[in-house]
Amino acid sequence: MDENNRNSFTGSIGFVLAAAGSAVGLGNIWRFPYLAARDGGGLFLLVYLVLALTFGYTLLTSEVALGRLTKQSPLTAYNKLSKGFKPLGVMACIVPMMIMPYYCVIGGWVVKYFLAFITGSGVNTAQEGYFTGFITETTSPIGMTVVFLFLTMIVVLGGVDKGIERFSKVIMPLLVILIVVISIFTLTISDTDELGNVRTGLEGLKVLVIPNFEGLTLSRFFSVLMDAMGQLFYSLSIAMGIMVAYGSYMRDEDNMSHSVGQIEIFDTGIAFLAGIMIIPSVYVFMGREGMEASGPGLMFVSLPKVFERMGPVGNYIGTLFFALVLFAALTSSVSILEAIVSSFMDQFKMSRVAAVIAEGVIALAFGLLVCLGYNKLYFEIELPNGAIAQILDIMDYVSNNLLMPIVAILTCLLVGWIVGPETVIGEVTKNGEKFRRRGLFVVMVKFIAPVMLLVLLLKAFGIL
Ligand code: PHE
Repeated sequence: MDENNRNSFTGSIGFVLAAAGSAVGLGNIWRFPYLAARDGGGLFLLVYLVLALTFGYTLLTSEVALGRLTKQSPLTAYNKLSKGFKPLGVMACIVPMMIMPYYCVIGGWVVKYFLAFITGSGVNTAQEGYFTGFITETTSPIGMTVVFLFLTMIVVLGGVDKGIERFSKVIMPLLVILIVVISIFTLTISDTDELGNVRTGLEGLKVLVIPNFEGLTLSRFFSVLMDAMGQLFYSLSIAMGIMVAYGSYMRDEDNMSHSVGQIEIFDTGIAFLAGIMIIPSVYVFMGREGMEASGPGLMFVSLPKVFERMGPVGNYIGTLFFALVLFAALTSSVSILEAIVSSFMDQFKMSRVAAVIAEGVIALAFGLLVCLGYNKLYFEIELPNGAIAQILDIMDYVSNNLLMPIVAILTCLLVGWIVGPETVIGEVTKNGEKFRRRGLFVVMVKFIAPVMLLVLLLKAFGIL
């Protein structure tokens, strides 16, 4: 697309809220709290924070800068900088295309639960087998997926400023209010277990924040480090083309350094609040064992039981909770779709409407496969990490564990060694802004980040 009439955000607040909307998603809500509770509470938080300020900062800055510098979509940005990097662009476009269908399926599950709670029948979702019963149905999950996909398409059809920015400016403040309200509530609850022991929300909070060094060996620390890095990477929406696309819509006069810092604070803050919201309530009503569930199990099976145990107020809290999750998921899926749409527009000179419809059809087709993967097309396969997988898990594994580290490693090579860190630094500081952590950035992007990413990749292949 012509650079001069390319859409843009109207200011840095719009950019930050849209990018934070992308970053804050299901990963913050269901994955971060569970990892923190499992990986030594405060220990994990500390490792995560250090990584966010070094590794996360380096990759996020690089992607946003590449986007703004080239004013191109993920598919076309990299080879504008260096001809040999076309395959990186293709990969950075395939990743969101692979994530989009199953993200919409999970979004559909959230729609289903939200509808159950808001119509007052939230308790049903706590019944044994409710979740499995729902996803193994043939039509209902497909219908919910379509609803979620349509909502996403409508926002993206509105364009960058009138669609994505406007939507994020309403949804993100609401999301913050919801998460703060629910967190305050969960800190005040308590319950008595079968043995007569009283468990309080504040005790649950200790599991989250107090560092637990029990049984900490070097290899255990290594796995905490890898968990934190994998989580951070996914959580900041890095290596899936999104931040390049959003960066390309950032105005030249806005302060990139500040904006990147704000996105990091937003994402990490919400992840931490999600921990406060989930860990104490699971602890109070289900004890330490309850915290073992992760992913869909935590959100769709354990939490409904927690809401049921809360009594009548549980249905209200559950409604707020699933509204929150729905908002978080929608702003993320909007960003995935936008990364793809911008690529189609730049590469094939399509109009926005045509690009949205084209990707909508593709996502729907694969989304159907994902839904049918739980019933008509059911099979089981073991992944290199030992997990038993269906179609959804395979797409998740290939995109997150294999392709994303490769995209990130190649981005580091491009920035660190081909165009040079100065290119990014120059873009960030072009209005005379300071580039704080400059030395750190150079060392990270050239040496440390690619090596760490390679280790993560080898681990995903089961080699380490
Ligand atoms: N960053 C989002 C999260 O933390 C996840 C996401 C994945 C967003 C894919 C966009 C695309 O949940």
